[in-house]
Amino acid sequence: MNDTARRQARQGAQRDLHIWPRYEAAALGFRNYWYPVNWSRRIGARPVAMRLLGDPVMFRRENGRVHAFYDQCPHRGIPLSVGRQEFPGTWSCRYHGWTYDCETGVLRAALTDGPDSPICGKVRVRTYPVEERGGLVWVWMGDGPPTVPVEADIPEDFLAADAMIVGRITVRHSNWRLAAENGYDEGHVTFLHRYGALWTTFDRMPGWIRTRGGGDEQGDWVRRVNNEVGLAGDYAGLGRWPRQHFWHFKRSPARVAIRLPGALQVRMAAYTYYAWYEAIDAESYRYFQFMVKRGNALRRRGFQLAYWLHRRWLNVQFTNQDGWMIRLMPMTAPERLYRPDASIIAWRRLCEHARGEGPAEADAAAGTEREASEQRR
Ligand code: FES
Ligand SMILES: [Fe+2]
Repeated sequence: MNDTARRQARQGAQRDLHIWPRYEAAALGFRNYWYPVNWSRRIGARPVAMRLLGDPVMFRRENGRVHAFYDQCPHRGIPLSVGRQEFPGTWSCRYHGWTYDCETGVLRAALTDGPDSPICGKVRVRTYPVEERGGLVWVWMGDGPPTVPVEADIPEDFLAADAMIVGRITVRHSNWRLAAENGYDEGHVTFLHRYGALWTTFDRMPGWIRTRGGGDEQGDWVRRVNNEVGLAGDYAGLGRWPRQHFWHFKRSPARVAIRLPGALQVRMAAYTYYAWYEAIDAESYRYFQFMVKRGNALRRRGFQLAYWLHRRWLNVQFTNQDGWMIRLMPMTAPERLYRPDASIIAWRRLCEHARGEGPAEADAAAGTEREASEQRR
C-alpha cells in the first residue's frame, strides 16, 4: 500500500459524521425541544444560573411561576443572575439597574436614566418558555415559540398520576452525543458491565445480544429488540467465553430505547430508568438519571426506600463505568464500526429527523426525506 492509499484508508476510517449532517452539526444539541432543567423544588426566588445548549440561562421563581432569561444584560453584558428585584414582576440588572419584565423580557425602566428614559420598551432580553411537570422544570430551547406542547417531549411515565420519580442530576465531561450513543450502544453492555459492576454481580449475563437493524421505531422511540441472545460460545482458536459461574443465576432482561432530543429509556421488571444527555457546551453535558415507579402509594414508598438504600448507589457505580469510557473516548478518533453498532447508526439516523426550525416546511421536508430513506432500506 502506498502512502496515498494508506492515507485514504485512514480517512475512510475517520468518524464519518458527515453522512449524518444534522447530527454532525448538533454539537450543542437540537434546539427545538423541551429539556429538563432541574427539580422544581430547587428553583425558588433566588436566581439559578445554568448553561444549556451553549446558552447562559437564568431561572427564577416568582408568584409560583418559573421564568427564564438569557443570562446576559443587553446593555453591557453583565449576567442578570447577579441582579436584584426592585419591583414585582421585574428583574433589575445589578450594574446600571436596567429593569426587565419577567414575562416578556422587555425593558420596563432604565432606573439610572430617570423615569423618562427614552430607551424603555426598545430593548428586550431573550426569555425562554418554561413549564413544570413531574416535579421538574422544563425549558423550550427553540429559537421561536414552542411548536409542540411540553407533553410531547416528556415520556408518559413522568406525567402519570401514579408515578414516583427519583433521581440525580450531575455534570459530566464530554460531548453529549458520545454519552447518548453509549446509552444505546448494544455491544458494550455484555463486556464493560460484566466486570466490576456490583449491580450485575449475580446476573447470568449473555456473551452477546443481537438486534436486527439496531432496533425498531416505535412512536418517538427507537427500541432495541433482542433478536438473538448468546449465553456463551466457542471462539475459534481461543476457547469458550464468557465463563458463567454458579452465582450467576439472575436474569435481568432490560429493554432499551432512545428518543430525541437525547433521552434513554431502560425498562426493568420493577421500574423504568430514564436518562437525558443534555449539552451544556460542546465539551460537557448534564446527565439526568431518573427511576420512575408506577403503582399505589405503598409500592411507591417501598420503591423510594429501596432507591435510597441500594438502587441509587448500584446505578451510580454502574453508570460510572459508562462515564469512564465516555471520558476516554476522543471526539475525533477514527471509528471502524461492527455489527452491534447498528444501534448507534439507528440513533444517528433518528437524529436526522430532529424537529426543524419552527415552520412546518422544515418538518415536512424531513418527513419526505424519511420516507425516501425508508424506501431505500
Ligand atoms: S450592564 Fe446591565 S444595566 Fe448596565
Ligand atoms: Fe452502559
